[in-house]
Amino acid sequence: MRTYAEPPATFVRGEGTLLFDADGKEYLDFITGLAVVSLGHGHPAVADAVAEQVRTLSHVSNLYGNTLAPEVARTIDRLINGGTGQAGGQVFFANSGAEANECALKLARRWAGGGRHVVISADNAFHGRTLATLTATGQPEKQAPFLPLPEGFVHVAYDDVAALDKALEPETVAGVLLEPIQGEGGVVVPSSDYLGAVRSLCTERNALLMLDEIQTGLGRTGHWFAFQAQGLEPDVVTMAKALGNGMPVGACWARAEVAAAFGPGDHGSTFGGQPLALAAVKATLAVMEAEDVCARARAGGARLVAGLERLPGVVSVRGAGLLLAAQLKAPVAKDAAALALGRGLLVNAVRPDAIRVAPPLLVRDAEIDAALGILAGAIGDVLAATSGGSD
Ligand SMILES: Cc1ncc(COP(=O)(O)O)c(C=O)c1O
Repeated sequence: MRTYAEPPATFVRGEGTLLFDADGKEYLDFITGLAVVSLGHGHPAVADAVAEQVRTLSHVSNLYGNTLAPEVARTIDRLINGGTGQAGGQVFFANSGAEANECALKLARRWAGGGRHVVISADNAFHGRTLATLTATGQPEKQAPFLPLPEGFVHVAYDDVAALDKALEPETVAGVLLEPIQGEGGVVVPSSDYLGAVRSLCTERNALLMLDEIQTGLGRTGHWFAFQAQGLEPDVVTMAKALGNGMPVGACWARAEVAAAFGPGDHGSTFGGQPLALAAVKATLAVMEAEDVCARARAGGARLVAGLERLPGVVSVRGAGLLLAAQLKAPVAKDAAALALGRGLLVNAVRPDAIRVAPPLLVRDAEIDAALGILAGAIGDVLAATSGGSD
């Protein structure tokens, strides 16, 4: 179906930060399938784990147990609690980011009960494309063709505590769903005290604080989860993207008291939590820990920020770790990204005037420097071709 634009390139192979097309042309992948392939393409530990698991046991359904699901759930719980000091959360495994958020939305309604079913999310948010997650997604132009949308969703301005304060009706609201940094919305970083204030409001009004870490999670921002930079204690955390380094898998973590609201039959997924996907997750998380990807993201991010800030036409750089956007002085992001692709670099025009970069967390300094060189040329040439010049 024609749900995507014509692809500007087609790839046949990947290795680390590199992608190759059918002609053998080499590209630096600084978008990683949208923050998915955090360990780089074809990581041997993940490849071996998946190959071995597919020969051993791929799938048994959730009518039966498998040994990987509880083991991986415990690892996720440990990584989340590393920032909060809490213990004993529980995990539901899904197959994508949208499904992880669907789980969170249903859990909030089940937990709150008593007519409290509203979930508040933010303008400009992105939470997925299923009907419920599209409704939570605060982008009216994406919703317009699909009206009427499910009931029970309210949007407020992002990074606006007063707006949330006004909307957070204790009689109707079950939870608040937010990205700690808005990824698809343009790598928008809120004020440093915003999420803490949201936490206080949620606690005061007995609503769940649900953080969508699907893009920001798993080391991407220099912490296992972006909320940990602020020492927050969320009630629900969703993740996907980098969780299986390319294996389609998502997860919804919740504090044990919240997770307890679900009973048998309340939610499910045929593929969710199957051994094949979780073998990829287990291997991915083990490599992430061994390589200390959080430190790698911070160091690589510092080098990339410094380089991006020096590029022609870049007025500022925002983001955290290795999830960054370069704000351009003119709306030439699409043309610059297209030119960069032709010269062997994948980046993405996250806004007409902003370029997003999200390379593998294991990216090498030399690869960062090479990418900066290509980007400098691409932005400079596109600006020179427009009336603005390229000072
Ligand atoms: C923050 C966030 N939430 C949810 C999603 C949806 O994930 P998926 O495309 O795996 O359904 C995305 C995808 O970009 C995302 O960035």
